[in-house]
Amino acid sequence: MAFQDEVSDLCQACCDLAKGVTIETVRNFVVGVERKVPLHDGSQVTYVNFDNAATTPPLDSVLKCSQMFLEWYGSVHRGSGLKAQISTHAFERCREVVAEFIGADLGYHTVIFTQNATHALNKLAMHLAPPPDKVILTTVMEHHSNMLPWRKLGCEVHYVRVIRENGKLDMADLEDHLRRYAGRIAVVTVSGASNVTGIIPPIRRIARLAHEAGAQMVVDATQLIPHRPFKMGAPDDPERIDFIAFSGHKMYAPFGAGVLAGPKTAFEERDPDYVGGGTVHAVTMDEVHWAPLPDKEEAGTPNVLGCLAIGCVVKVLESIGMDNVAEHERVLTRRALEKLQRIDGLTLYGLKDPEVREDRLGVITMNSRAYSHGQSAAILGHEWGIGVRNGCFCAQPYVRELLGITDAEMHDIVARLSAGDHATVPGMVRFSFGVYNTPDEVDYAVEAVRAVLAHGPKARYILDPQHMEYVPETPAVCVHDLLPI
Ligand SMILES: Cc1ncc(COP(=O)(O)O)c(C=O)c1O
Repeated sequence: MAFQDEVSDLCQACCDLAKGVTIETVRNFVVGVERKVPLHDGSQVTYVNFDNAATTPPLDSVLKCSQMFLEWYGSVHRGSGLKAQISTHAFERCREVVAEFIGADLGYHTVIFTQNATHALNKLAMHLAPPPDKVILTTVMEHHSNMLPWRKLGCEVHYVRVIRENGKLDMADLEDHLRRYAGRIAVVTVSGASNVTGIIPPIRRIARLAHEAGAQMVVDATQLIPHRPFKMGAPDDPERIDFIAFSGHKMYAPFGAGVLAGPKTAFEERDPDYVGGGTVHAVTMDEVHWAPLPDKEEAGTPNVLGCLAIGCVVKVLESIGMDNVAEHERVLTRRALEKLQRIDGLTLYGLKDPEVREDRLGVITMNSRAYSHGQSAAILGHEWGIGVRNGCFCAQPYVRELLGITDAEMHDIVARLSAGDHATVPGMVRFSFGVYNTPDEVDYAVEAVRAVLAHGPKARYILDPQHMEYVPETPAVCVHDLLPI
């Protein structure tokens, strides 16, 4: 077969892999969903992954497409052989696929591949760094990755408060901040959806207000992108989002690649954050001429496979339809909320309306009367084979607010957290749904929560002092025996 045919077969095969996927069939295309895991008593159950807000399992098409691509894998950028050219073009094609998915116009925007959302937000903060008399406006709701990078810049950072009772952003407080710091606000940066409560702030309305105030609008879209349709908006749209950041590993691609998108002009003025190979046109002993975007911002050899994985996933999500993704997850959320609310001794945080009249992601946080978040998560994992997250989800200020922790209490908690104790300090248990989860899985998890509250754990748990997590006194398996290397 001529090589052109082989290459076009590769492209066709990758697209065909995506085309077959629908909301009804997507579960068949997720790697590892039927994996059985051992429980504390040695029995086995099919693992239920309700930790999608942390990391989603990869799609089968990613595996297959990567395997096909590895046949053609070569160096990227400026390699002369055919394999190098295919690697380079595949990499650039992924950029176009991502740009189309998020509604970025590559004439105006740049799409920069990063390691993850955290890397993207750090890079962005460095580029947008306003002078010290300016203000960054963000919120108490943010993940640490959309909080700490802005604090490093040396200008004032102000936080819009959240409403404790329902976890929502206090829009009156946001407007108040915009008035109070009028003329000084350079950036408004808000989560597109919370990883703690699933709340979706009104980012379009906030963008309009930010632009009226002369600020740039940044959305940490890490949780939003895999679960809801999203478009950046035209450059002259007052409700446009100027910059977004997100990670591949929360949208069914493996770890290691993320995206930062925004107007090219914002990245042209300053030197890149990382410098070195790939970022330059010319270097002498005392001069450097930066390469055009996005190369200038992608120092070193890029993660071509990781970016290819994001491209493959985008094709699958497009095939399913983001509206279908959203509706499926709403159905799961409704079901879970409706059933969880009937369980005595359980506290739910954030929006609790089982009708889900206000759109929110399938992220549900809770605490039980009887067990700490660390114990609850351990029991669900070791006795039911359910993977959840517990603690503060890298959003400590928001969790603190939702839990109503006072300043005095916080003092002691900070000391314990600083010592690495994330298990015995206050926190929550989080269920987060993905496109492949089923109503049966929701029912199973709700039954687990109910049974644990009604009958208690079956095993005795101790705090592992090394990892600061609860484990059964006599575990069924040693995790180290299961490691791939
Ligand atoms: C809202 C939000 N922003 C940013 C991040 C950081 O993502 P990453 O760890 O992939 O950089 C996360 C991770 O949980 C998140 O939920």
